[in-house]
Amino acid sequence: MDINGLFSGSPGNSAFPFLLKGKWRSGENRRTYFPFSGLLPVPGGKDVWSVDQAERTDLEEALRDAGNTRRIMRDLPRFRRSRILENVSRLLEEHREPLAKLIVQEVGKPLSAARFEVDRAATTFRTAAHAAADFGTSWMPGDSVPQGIGMNGLVERIPKGFVLAVTPYNFPLNLLAHKVAPAIAAGCPLLVKPAPFGSLTALMLGALLLEAGLPPDALSILPADIPGTLSLVEHPEVEVVSFTGSDVVGWSLRDRVPRKTVVLELGGNAGVLVTEDAEMDGLPEKLVSGAFAYAGQVCISVQRVLVHRSLFDRLVSGMVGRVEHLEKEGFIGDPGRDGVLMGPLIQESHAEKVWGRVQRAVQEGATALTPLRREGTLIHPVILTNTKESDEVESEEIFGPVVTVIPFDRTKEAIDRLNRSKYGLQAGIFTKNLEEGLGLAVNIDCPGVFVNEIPTFRLDHWPYGGIRHSGSGTEGVVYAMEEMTRPRLTGFRTRRQE
Ligand code: SIN
Repeated sequence: MDINGLFSGSPGNSAFPFLLKGKWRSGENRRTYFPFSGLLPVPGGKDVWSVDQAERTDLEEALRDAGNTRRIMRDLPRFRRSRILENVSRLLEEHREPLAKLIVQEVGKPLSAARFEVDRAATTFRTAAHAAADFGTSWMPGDSVPQGIGMNGLVERIPKGFVLAVTPYNFPLNLLAHKVAPAIAAGCPLLVKPAPFGSLTALMLGALLLEAGLPPDALSILPADIPGTLSLVEHPEVEVVSFTGSDVVGWSLRDRVPRKTVVLELGGNAGVLVTEDAEMDGLPEKLVSGAFAYAGQVCISVQRVLVHRSLFDRLVSGMVGRVEHLEKEGFIGDPGRDGVLMGPLIQESHAEKVWGRVQRAVQEGATALTPLRREGTLIHPVILTNTKESDEVESEEIFGPVVTVIPFDRTKEAIDRLNRSKYGLQAGIFTKNLEEGLGLAVNIDCPGVFVNEIPTFRLDHWPYGGIRHSGSGTEGVVYAMEEMTRPRLTGFRTRRQE
């Protein structure tokens, strides 16, 4: 099988091997699925893709001779790591269009967003290329305390060992890049367990990593079932598990291996505070984009908007008007059509779950401000008000095109409501008074707070990570490198020349 055939854009009926220590390997068992064709990832589409699944023996083979593989990566000079990462970045730029089309077909992401994801992944690798060159080494003089006179400390950050990256479908390229690029920069070998939807994008990245010069032994991309994945998580040679996905799965993984480094990037129900003096020009459009881009399948999607009562009507009518415009002008629909901003959800079962939550909220007294419409996996944008904190559309991560808008009278009451969430990832505040905004930001219990920007905002070199149910540990290239390395101290005594 020529994996590069994928670059041709439409692979038709194809079977794809996986990557075991840098070599393509076919398996006996295949997982078959249907790429998005129009709106449909359903049986009946004209193409069928099959991805070979790694079996238990393949997983064991990936970690055979692990000591040698660890040494290969650890001893790779910094300039070589940096060059490989720079090469990957360039290759991603060169293959932007076919990769973006593959993302559309695999996960139903609108083409413009898929292109943006490829651009971001190129940036993530370039950032890692720079970081690899001079990460984490410092000289610490001993004489800052009396008993240290004559001593010197050299502190390096050394790779912990194998990193297992378990990745989600929603950013099949860039969220994988956020694990792969720092691991290479830090000198760690990699095992990747990609999401079932998104495996081909991961394998494509694998092809580029090899072309870029990554030592083949250091890379395995292994589509695997749940027991297989758990065997990797528990394998003694895996030192770091870096997981992005649902909170239930993430925390259960961590409970299995409490002594390992487990970085969890989990969900959220991002809140936005619109204060009495917020600039309203452009705000409804921004919020709509934050709530409905990629149909809300983003951990930092805008899910709860708390708006000062004096602005409520204006904000709501602006948001509803924007949704009507998107519907009328054909911006909602087939993710492969140029210009479409919002497509369907990943699969029927997920659409069913999101829809059930919306229905229950309405039965409990919520008011829908947009018409409730669903066509299979396509749920049209839902704006709700009169919701209660206990409604799942507020309290759970919805991961769908649903946003609640709630009026408030006192800012403190709104901040308390935002903070009374089991999640804590990113939040936004809108106010014309920057000083006030910065003051309010401190009171919001999330690791990332933006003033005059929606929380659906991320720069790939900035720290990104949640607290409470939203996760533990931090990504954003150098932050992830810290998770994947530990300090090593070499102390030495020098004789003072009199
Ligand atoms: C996520 O869904 O956690 C990723 C968001 C992003 O990288 O923009």
